[in-house]
Amino acid sequence: MDVDHVAQTWSVSIYYPLLITGLVLLFWFQQKRIPFPQDAPQVLKEGYPLLGALRFFTDRGNFFHDSVAATRTGNFGFYVGCHQLIGLAGHPGRKTFFESKLLDLTTGYRVLLGTEPPSISKRGHYDEIISYAAKFRRNFIRTMGTESLSDHLPLNIELVHETFREAGSDGLMDVFHDFDVLVHRLTMQNLGVYEIADSQELYQRTYNAYYQIESAKSATRVIFPWLPTPAFITQITAGAKLYQTFSRIIRQRAASEKPQGGALQYLIDSGANTSDILHFVLNAIFASQLNTPIVVSWVVIYLATQPYWMKMVRAEIDAALAKHGSPGETPVDVLKRLKLQQWESEFPCFNACMHESMRLHVTGSAYRMNTSGGDVPITGTKEVVPRDALVFYLLKEVHLDPEIYPEPDKWDPRRFLSENDQSKDTPYSFLAWGDGRHPCLGTRIAKLQMVIIVAHLVSTFDLQLCDAAGRPKDDPPAAEQKYHVTSKPIVGVRVKYCRRSLD
Ligand code: HEM
Repeated sequence: MDVDHVAQTWSVSIYYPLLITGLVLLFWFQQKRIPFPQDAPQVLKEGYPLLGALRFFTDRGNFFHDSVAATRTGNFGFYVGCHQLIGLAGHPGRKTFFESKLLDLTTGYRVLLGTEPPSISKRGHYDEIISYAAKFRRNFIRTMGTESLSDHLPLNIELVHETFREAGSDGLMDVFHDFDVLVHRLTMQNLGVYEIADSQELYQRTYNAYYQIESAKSATRVIFPWLPTPAFITQITAGAKLYQTFSRIIRQRAASEKPQGGALQYLIDSGANTSDILHFVLNAIFASQLNTPIVVSWVVIYLATQPYWMKMVRAEIDAALAKHGSPGETPVDVLKRLKLQQWESEFPCFNACMHESMRLHVTGSAYRMNTSGGDVPITGTKEVVPRDALVFYLLKEVHLDPEIYPEPDKWDPRRFLSENDQSKDTPYSFLAWGDGRHPCLGTRIAKLQMVIIVAHLVSTFDLQLCDAAGRPKDDPPAAEQKYHVTSKPIVGVRVKYCRRSLD
């Protein structure tokens, strides 16, 4: 048999069937794409057949910026796989995004974070997700308020104290990793899952499972949610491990005589099943881990590079220690006695540094889905968000707007000191805690965790920013531009700490 003949046979037997299958799939997929209605925002020309606008995943900041600039109203439409997406922009866009009760938060996040199973197209399925989310919010508000924060405060402080005591008198911290683990444990305490917070084996296991689920998110999961990719299998396996861990904890609690408080116990006592409990805990853990450890790491990085603000924050912590302490007490003794109300009111400079770090780094996307069954008008335009379309808004647009925040790239906490807080005058100008119909439910928990961490660190140690190899570094690193939620640096950093001399 000659070579030409082999090649010809291969073409006929493999290549053509493959090509035809590919074309049929492509055609089928394109057919599934519903055309945008006439009154949808201008539809972008950008995007590949089948896959859609891939810059939404690979270069979201520039994609948003270019699309806003290229369209009449700044709002724009495009496809991702067969999902219709609308990008909203400007004040009217923000108003629609954050105020419309016809745009649902949970379905938006589930589809665009790639955690949604394929049955999304069924309307009953949306209703189920929406009612589950409403139940989650009710339970969260019921169990995570002032009483719970006060009850868990001594545990939170002790855990932070223990973590820094174990760190010794000097060393190098990988803040983004170390605070990630610490916040995981603190949040488990706040949720009343003490078994996990107190056991190194268990918190490592749940932390690893959380990470497996988190890192399995991918563009492929969004575009082809029905494909059993390795990422999908990883998600399922990690979810199953968490289910086992929680089932065991719930069984042990049922068998124990010891009375327990906290959100977990409330859910068990009110008859929630393991899936509901896991859903509650995972929702809170995701909302927390994706934000709190990253924000507090940035605050520490800025304080380590800005002596003026380090002095200001330290001065207010020292003032609180002097006000509430007695002679002979260590800073940690006094911090352990501070009440919730004192933690929440006595650190305005820290708050300003935190808000400025959030303005610069909570710059990613917020998501919604139009599950209302009809088109949703976009405020101030004649345009609509089509029925069943997904919607996204990039917080960067407003957080880096020079009209609202002059010299927007500069880290300047003065902007958030109450006497000159510009963001208060302009609606929807500071969105790092959400706004409108969906303000962040964990704001108080996150602020408390962050101020406790920073107060311990700053009252005990001098800090120096370093690169990943431990060499001193003068300036904070640039932030990555992925625009998922809160951004990490593009390069690894460490913070060198050395016990502060108290003379
Ligand atoms: C620095 C830390 C945090 C930041 C920057 C942050 C940011 C946000 C933002 C921007 C939203 C609104 C999302 C949107 O409108 O699409 C939000 C919502 C939410 N956050 Fe946070 N968050 C933080 C910590 C937490 C923590 C610790 C928890 C819980 C333990 C939490 C629970 C929630 C929940 C449940 C919602 C959804 C509210 C709803 O469905 O109406 N967050 N957060």
